[in-house]
Amino acid sequence: MTQLATQHKKLERNVTLLSIFAFVAVAIGGIVEIAPLFWIDSTLEKVEGVRPYTPLEQEGRDIYVREGCYTCHSQMIRPFRDEVERYGHYSLAAESMYDHPFQWGSKRTGPDLARVGGKYSDDWHVQHMIDPRSVVPESIMPAYSHLAKNGADLRDMSKHLRALKTLGVPYSDDMITHAYRDAVAQVSPDSDHADGLRARYGDTIAVRDFDGEPHFISELDALIAYLQVLGTMVEFKDYNPDYAPKTEAK
Ligand code: HEC
Repeated sequence: MTQLATQHKKLERNVTLLSIFAFVAVAIGGIVEIAPLFWIDSTLEKVEGVRPYTPLEQEGRDIYVREGCYTCHSQMIRPFRDEVERYGHYSLAAESMYDHPFQWGSKRTGPDLARVGGKYSDDWHVQHMIDPRSVVPESIMPAYSHLAKNGADLRDMSKHLRALKTLGVPYSDDMITHAYRDAVAQVSPDSDHADGLRARYGDTIAVRDFDGEPHFISELDALIAYLQVLGTMVEFKDYNPDYAPKTEAK
């Protein structure tokens, strides 16, 4: 028997020694894979158009999480042909870079919502949330009519944005200070503050009354503002024409 084989035999028969060597081998593999991520500037490709949520959209997102919509809906289109044909362009990492916590989900009792923004009118969403079966007779989605009656709690939005900023969402001090005013401005198209909102978040922000009840800012306003922005921040025709979402999917 060669010397090497004898040594190897010793190693294989000594559990402690084998464990130590196995650990060293695995650790080297791990370091080679993980370490470079700490040195490259960004592990995430930044994509034009992706911005932090407006305070109203963020409130809608909090309601989405509170109501547990993620237990039936994913927000992650995988790069497979069947998914891309059904839902549109596969999800990019950058599209959920400001999501804390992310809503990729692991269960699809209902369809994926990553690109539901703009697919339906606000009226459709109002009807669907209040009584899903009035628009989709075979639906098994629960009704969320209470959202139309609950006032959206927007007073703490500044604190919310500040907390998100500590997690790396680039909210400016200006955005944090004006969070409440911006949230109200987004459902008040005639207010003087809508310009400030657009200046802070961009001209493409949807400013309108979302729930069809202009004198009351409901949780439904916030939730629909959030649903309508999902998947709409990136212009996909500029990104990869092969996978441009089909218009007839609307
Ligand atoms: C018990 C599972 C379940 C829960 C919880 C649930 N949904 Fe649904 N959802 C469904 C099903 C099933 C459908 C497909 C039928 C329909 O359109 O109603 C659906 C459809 C939808 C659609 C239409 C999607 C499309 O592309 O046609 C939207 C938007 C939606 N849900 C939003 C929500 C929101 C927001 C919540 C949380 C407030 C929620 N859902 C909670 C099951 C669920």
